[in-house]
Amino acid sequence: MNDKKLSINNLLGIKYLNLADVDLIFETADYFKEVINRSIKKVPVLRDLTIANLFFENSTRTKLSFELAQKRLSSEIINFSSAQSSLKKGESLIDTVNNILAMKVDIIVIRHPDPGAAMFLSKNVNSCIINAGDGTHEHPTQALLDAYSLKEKLGNLEGKKIVIVGDILHSRVALSNIFLLKMLGADVKLCGPKTLMPYYAESLGVSLEMDLSKAIKWCDAANMLRVQNERMDQSYFPSIHEYTSLYGLGLPLLKTLNKEIVVLHPGPINRGVEITSELADSKQAIILDQVQNGVAIRMAVIYLLASKLIIP
Ligand code: CP
Repeated sequence: MNDKKLSINNLLGIKYLNLADVDLIFETADYFKEVINRSIKKVPVLRDLTIANLFFENSTRTKLSFELAQKRLSSEIINFSSAQSSLKKGESLIDTVNNILAMKVDIIVIRHPDPGAAMFLSKNVNSCIINAGDGTHEHPTQALLDAYSLKEKLGNLEGKKIVIVGDILHSRVALSNIFLLKMLGADVKLCGPKTLMPYYAESLGVSLEMDLSKAIKWCDAANMLRVQNERMDQSYFPSIHEYTSLYGLGLPLLKTLNKEIVVLHPGPINRGVEITSELADSKQAIILDQVQNGVAIRMAVIYLLASKLIIP
């Protein structure tokens, strides 16, 4: 590893990164990917660091992946779940985090249902903050692991055609992916029902296609987003059956193509809704590669931010 530094002190969103930061994160992740595939998967680089994982929203992949990344770097970890905390007694977020920091914690990883929660914390507490997903806003480590996984399959993403399909409106994964893929020079298209397309979509520098089969014929890779039922306060389509018939992806459509596209899904999958089980379990879907790469990407992000704390 070299001694290059990130331009940022917190990871709040992809929009605060530049191309040199992304290249550095990917280079560092290459190194850590090799480490986690050894028989001894651990390096002692962050032995003196303590990280708190604050999850105010459910998570399987992101929470476990951050925890494993921290353990592989030999840092100390504390985990916080809002359900059993004094937030239930009326304590504010800032007070909660300042109490955690008083115990000599160095880095806060936060997932929160409110857009801007990570930015809010970074402005109000004295710590390095990593955004593990803030409501419908950004999920920067997901976008980094998605782009890293795509690069493994497609090589340089300059000029590659990537379609993001489904519930764009409620998706932090979509926004972070758009920012990152465009920074890497990809041609990005969004596809989904009009009701799940934000009004500002085209201002993000992407094109729109409502017809899934046209979008799939166009692309080199398709990122199939989860339908975020938990964020829907009204009906956005007549039925799940209708959604799936128009925007669900399966092998029959892929078999009509004269090329093999890469299929991603950030998880958790609603099997049979966004993609069929047959496709999810096929070699064209790189869902478990994404999860594996997530650990290396998060090791890289934590290591690079921590090295700025140790040697500013
Ligand atoms: N992709 C993702 O963020 O999954 P989790 O909600 O399980 O963390």
